[in-house]
Amino acid sequence: MIFGILTEQDDPRVASAPATVKKMIAAGHVVMVQSGAGDRAFYSDQDFIDAGAEIVSSGKILTEAEVIVSHEPISSALMKELKAGTILISMFSPRSNPEVKSAFEASNLWAFSMDMIPRTSIAQSMDVLSSTASLAGYRAVLVAAAQLPGYFPMLMTAAGTIPPAKVLILGAGVAGLQAIATSRRLGAKVEVFDVRAAVKEEVESLGAKFIEVAGAQEDQAAGGYAITQTEEYQRKQRDLIHEHASKSDVIITTANIPGRKAPILIEQRTVEAMRKGSVIIDLAAATGGNCALTQNDQTVVHHDVSIIGNSLLAAGMSRDASLLYSNNVWSFVQYVFKDGKDKVDFSNDIVSSTFLGKVPQTA
Ligand code: NAI
Repeated sequence: MIFGILTEQDDPRVASAPATVKKMIAAGHVVMVQSGAGDRAFYSDQDFIDAGAEIVSSGKILTEAEVIVSHEPISSALMKELKAGTILISMFSPRSNPEVKSAFEASNLWAFSMDMIPRTSIAQSMDVLSSTASLAGYRAVLVAAAQLPGYFPMLMTAAGTIPPAKVLILGAGVAGLQAIATSRRLGAKVEVFDVRAAVKEEVESLGAKFIEVAGAQEDQAAGGYAITQTEEYQRKQRDLIHEHASKSDVIITTANIPGRKAPILIEQRTVEAMRKGSVIIDLAAATGGNCALTQNDQTVVHHDVSIIGNSLLAAGMSRDASLLYSNNVWSFVQYVFKDGKDKVDFSNDIVSSTFLGKVPQTA
């Protein structure tokens, strides 16, 4: 197949890193990369040429590529230039933009949304949300450590002893677990809340303390994800979080329920009870935030507590983020197109979860 990689508009990542391009070429594909597409991820045109790609104009990609891979969906103006049957692999976010599905159904394009990969064992190597969350969880801790007016580790010096920073992590999914591991490596004391009892063991194995709130509801049908909790549970949880938050230096919030607005776990009164100079990194900012004061892609300072709602933390690590994304996409491509484009199995779970558009009659 002929793959095309365009320069992203806002995102500094590139959809295919040279190391992945090399594997694609070795498997017999052609890869065309727009000149400069890798610049903001620190991959040069020469790196792509060395990997076997052709450096071309965006126009050539739009007219000749059979598969276009990107992070940001390409604009509808550019989509009009594509030939019928072009395959688009991107992050279309149909959970928050349901209209995207009907738009593709009415088009002659094939679109696969990588953010819809199911979290099953077989799809693990394709799970871009896990890759991104892991990068964000790590980066969140480093951003917090740089912002905090104090040390993370305990420090015993001739000038006195500094106690370790106290970090509170809300949500121990992929991002939360990476945030726990990173905070522990920096020497902080870590406490964790999650509604899923299954994560307790994992949290403790990373050296953190798991705080349970009795009465959490779980649903096996949610595929390992959390579900919305009762009003009574939420109130109890917010009170307990308030108690622990007021003794914390850093809070990293990652609580998320797919397709829903993020639950509010930190109220204004909790921020006001925190020590001045404390830092909250709200990873759920893009879906409304876990803190009542969070503003997406902004830093709010309230009562001398910084609330950082950066929803592009992972993209800030553009080099490695590009590599992980492209490896995830390459695993997906190998799996879905193993028998060629004409033999895609639309009844397969991974295909049906990600495909947007009209299933071809012949399939
Ligand atoms: P995940 O679904 O793996 O983990 C979320 C965790 O939150 C789960 O363990 C869930 O049980 C827990 N949770 C849900 N409701 C809760 C509640 N009321 N109290 C305590 N825990 C609760 O999600 P993942 O992949 O770790 O992502 C976490 C968040 O980070 C998401 O909102 C995601 O959109 C965001 N994210 C942000 C990035 C950034 O650059 N800022 C990059 C990647 C992800």
